[in-house]
Amino acid sequence: MKLQGFPKRYENASEPTGDRWMAHYEAAKGVVDSGGILVLYGGNGTGKTRMAYELAKKASPPRAQYKRGSLLYDLPRIYTTAVNLFMQVRETFRKDSQVSESELIRRYSEASLLVIDEIQERGETPFEDRKLTQIIDSRYMDERPTILISNHTREEFAKSLSPAVLDRIRENGRGLNFNWGSFRRSDALKVGADPVSIAEG
Ligand SMILES: Nc1ncnc2c1ncn2[C@@H]1O[C@H](COP(=O)(O)OP(=O)(O)OP(=O)(O)O)[C@@H](O)[C@H]1O
Ligand SMILES: [Mg+2]
Repeated sequence: MKLQGFPKRYENASEPTGDRWMAHYEAAKGVVDSGGILVLYGGNGTGKTRMAYELAKKASPPRAQYKRGSLLYDLPRIYTTAVNLFMQVRETFRKDSQVSESELIRRYSEASLLVIDEIQERGETPFEDRKLTQIIDSRYMDERPTILISNHTREEFAKSLSPAVLDRIRENGRGLNFNWGSFRRSDALKVGADPVSIAEG
C-alpha cells in the first residue's frame, strides 16, 4: 500500500480511543469503501487528521489497484493540505515547471484515496473553487473516495464549497461532526487522568 504525504507524527501514535471517535470511524470507513465524499469537521485536536490517516491505512476503496501487463499495482493514497494543493497547482504555471497542470490534476484525481486537510485555510477564490470542483468531480465520476477536513462549522464549511461539490456530497457523502474536546489537552498526559473522558467531556 502506497501512502503519500501523510504527516509522520501519526506513525507511532498510540491506539485510537473514545467510543464516539470509533463510531465516526466505522461510519467514515463505510463512505470511503463505497467511493463517496467524506467531510470531517470540528475543533482542533479532535482527531480528524488522525482518522484520515487510519482510513488510509485500513480502508478498502474501490478500484485501489491498476493493472499493467499481468501485474496489479496499488494506486497511491494521498494526503495534502488545501494550501499545499493550490500552491502546487500554481507552481505548474512556471515556465521551468517539471510537471504540467493536467498531470498534477490527474495525479490527485487518480489516487485511490485523496485527503484534503485544512480546507478552511484556502483562499476560496473562483480559481481554487474550479480546481477543487474539477478534482472532486473526476474522483466522483470514477467512484474514488475523497476526504475533506475542516475546522469550520457545518454551515461555514457548506458556504465555502461550490454548489457542485455540495450536490455530490448530498448524493454519496457524509459529514461527521467532531464535537468533543481536544485529544491534545495536556491534562490527558497527567498520570491517572483518563484521556477518553477528557476527550469526550
Ligand atoms: N481517537 C484517538 N485516540 C487517542 N488519540 C487520538 C485520537 N485521535 C487523535 N488522537 C491524537 O490526538 C492528537 C490530535 O489529533 P489530530 O491531529 O487528528 O487532530 P485534528 O482534529 O486533525 O486537529 P486540527 O484541527 O488541529 O488539525 C494527535 O496526537 C493524535 O494522534
Ligand atoms: Mg488536523
